[in-house]
Amino acid sequence: MSLPATPPATSPVTLPAVVPVDVASPWRLSVAPMLDWTDRHCRHFHRLLTRQTRLYTEMVTTGALLHGDVHRHLDFDGVEHPVALQLGGSEPADLAACARLAQRWGYDEVNLNCGCPSERVQRGAFGACLMAEPALVADGVKAMRDAVDIPVTVKHRIGIDRIERYDFVRDFVGTVAEAGCEVFIVHARNAWLQGLSPKENRDIPPLRHELVHQLKRDFPQLTLVINGGIRSDDEIAHHLHHVDGVMVGRQAYHEPWQMAGWDARFFGAATPFEDRRAVEDAWIAYLQRGHEAGRPWTQAMRHALGLWNGVAGARAWRQFWSDARQREQAPDLLHARAPRPGVAGAPQTNTLSQAASDARG
Ligand SMILES: Cc1cc2nc3c(=O)[nH]c(=O)nc-3n(C[C@H](O)[C@H](O)[C@H](O)COP(=O)(O)O)c2cc1C
Repeated sequence: MSLPATPPATSPVTLPAVVPVDVASPWRLSVAPMLDWTDRHCRHFHRLLTRQTRLYTEMVTTGALLHGDVHRHLDFDGVEHPVALQLGGSEPADLAACARLAQRWGYDEVNLNCGCPSERVQRGAFGACLMAEPALVADGVKAMRDAVDIPVTVKHRIGIDRIERYDFVRDFVGTVAEAGCEVFIVHARNAWLQGLSPKENRDIPPLRHELVHQLKRDFPQLTLVINGGIRSDDEIAHHLHHVDGVMVGRQAYHEPWQMAGWDARFFGAATPFEDRRAVEDAWIAYLQRGHEAGRPWTQAMRHALGLWNGVAGARAWRQFWSDARQREQAPDLLHARAPRPGVAGAPQTNTLSQAASDARG
């Protein structure tokens, strides 16, 4: 007797009542890799706000690592853990060599970028264009997994150009998972490889979060992390019902104080610092240590300029700390006369001219 090709219309549809997401996943919450932004200073600042959230480096290309200054690209501070190195590349032997470096340097994960649409990256035949070559990605993942014990993960888009079909991303994940990748971070929009700048490619192709939820349903054994356009804590909480983790990029960078609530809300852990002033004090102490070791502090300070956003006096504070004319001065001396947002009677306008004349006097 042959079985019917489709179940009779009356048979109950059995969808899992609850998606088996891993509430204790190390990927529960993370800050996205962002070129020129998530350098080691930025990650240090983010650590003052959240101890539990996973942090990612900027993308480092295999070429830069194998032929450039490894210390400059890889050195980081132990307080940044858990921290992942993101690689850009496609040659399996090079990826394996770089994964070994990542492990030797003490990174907690090595992540392969299959989502960057920039033309420079496309010329190097990596980034988002790798989504068209899942077998090559699988080879790269396998080579890296053979080389290291730390997790090897992949960050990708839901499609490239005008390919909107769900089975494109499903097959990509399936092929790469067969090579042993267990964690997929999915930026839930296509990458349009022609005609859009990388910035436009982060805004214009429509977001389709439901495709990432669907991936989790189709691959319940894999860790699925959703990324793209997620801003509020309530949105994060919503996605955590459907996937194992949420990765936040621009919102975390521009509104860093939001992260101060994450350890308590999403991990049931203590908050590192109760108020912004305490974060500012710890951050300036970090800048001061760098200054005393001869490192300019202004490049690091730019990552913290959103700390007081939303509080009266934030603008004056931002202007004070971003004024290039005081870059030679010690951060702790500047701190003593910086505007104090939120303090009644504190100057609400730029006090720089006053500060500059104090400094001259
Ligand atoms: C300035 C900037 C640089 C970025 N650089 C990288 C990168 O190096 N590697 C990467 O995988 N994604 C990079 N991205 C993309 C982010 O990781 C993230 O996927 C994207 O911003 C969408 O998330 P969001 O809407 O939460 O910001 C970058 C994004 C920004 C804004």
